[in-house]
Amino acid sequence: MPAISMKVNGQMMSGEAEPRTLLVEFIRNTLGLTGTHVGCDTSQCGACVVHVNGKAIKSCTALAVACDGAEVTTIEGLAKNGKLHPMQEAFREHHGLQCGYCTPGMIMSAVDMVKRKGKKLDEETIRAELDGNICRCTGYHNIVAAVKAGAEAM
Ligand code: FES
Ligand code: FES
Repeated sequence: MPAISMKVNGQMMSGEAEPRTLLVEFIRNTLGLTGTHVGCDTSQCGACVVHVNGKAIKSCTALAVACDGAEVTTIEGLAKNGKLHPMQEAFREHHGLQCGYCTPGMIMSAVDMVKRKGKKLDEETIRAELDGNICRCTGYHNIVAAVKAGAEAM
């Protein structure tokens, strides 16, 4: 198996990956970063969203070997010095989660949304941008409120 390396949450990490190994499998099973979730096998749920070279992607749709040398940020990389990222804090504050399974992907998508769309986000934009993230618990209302508040705080 080829060995690959990537900078994950600011640290160089290496491991072996088969040509067919998905990025999400590499992150979870090889690197042991289990905050990134797998919620489907059809690339629909968004629980697996991470940032690769600064852009949000569904890590179940990328091969690990294709990300050799990339910079990757996972949900574990957002908090700094024991302090939650403003978007994480907003989800906590606004009860933007219930079971929490979708939450890492929601937050990684939301942070990317702010980078692309700015800090002033209206409800329509947030709902449209979260099209690729499915939540089976919350009914989305509090997630939208959390993203709006988190964006303003970023
Ligand atoms: Fe990637 Fe569902 S696990 S979209
Ligand atoms: Fe349970 Fe979203 S909080 S799936």
